[in-house]
Amino acid sequence: MIPAPKVPYEFIDHIIVSEEDIKKRVDYLGEIITEDYKDSEKLLLLGLLRGSVMFMTDLMRKIKRPMTLDFMSVSSYAGSSSSGFVRIDSDHKTNIAGWDVILVDDIVDTGHTINTVRKLLNDRHPRSIKICALLDKPDRHKVEFDIDYLGFSIPDYFVVGYGLDIDEKGRNLPYIASVNLERYKKIYGG
Ligand code: IMP
Ligand code: MG
Repeated sequence: MIPAPKVPYEFIDHIIVSEEDIKKRVDYLGEIITEDYKDSEKLLLLGLLRGSVMFMTDLMRKIKRPMTLDFMSVSSYAGSSSSGFVRIDSDHKTNIAGWDVILVDDIVDTGHTINTVRKLLNDRHPRSIKICALLDKPDRHKVEFDIDYLGFSIPDYFVVGYGLDIDEKGRNLPYIASVNLERYKKIYGG
């Protein structure tokens, strides 16, 4: 593994996915989405704020189809129960009835967020709905679901970068890096 540069965050450990690998994978995802939706006139990329922002803006540049984008913001409280509870903080603006929706998230952990939001969107009668996630931690899944477009499967590390954060820090890194949680606690407490 490549040690991550110490600047700008002291708490990052290793680069898990490099900037170059992200770029190649995003290019590839853009190509297959372009192909899969070649007959769609109503393609909507719906991102979950805020983690999916960097991924969304790169991905949309690689989709060679008419499309639009929207966002929603949700918080998930998995707590100690396995059911999970997902609260909508801010809903999307588009009426998605009849649209081909691709729900875009930064990372799938237990799967509660993606699963709950997918069900909710389904009740709003889109023409189709698919899931796109930059990262997946399969060892952590607690519910059954499919990811239609996946960037990378990673082991059970806590990661930041390329939009992902720890307490809002680390989103601007152009790569995905693991967090040294011990070091993080020493710096920020908790
Ligand atoms: P889930 O509902 O358990 O699948 O949680 C998914 C959400 O948890 C993601 O959208 C992220 O906001 C957050 N999350 C899970 N793992 C990580 C991580 O390693 N780094 C940053 N955020 C994470
Ligand atoms: Mg998230």
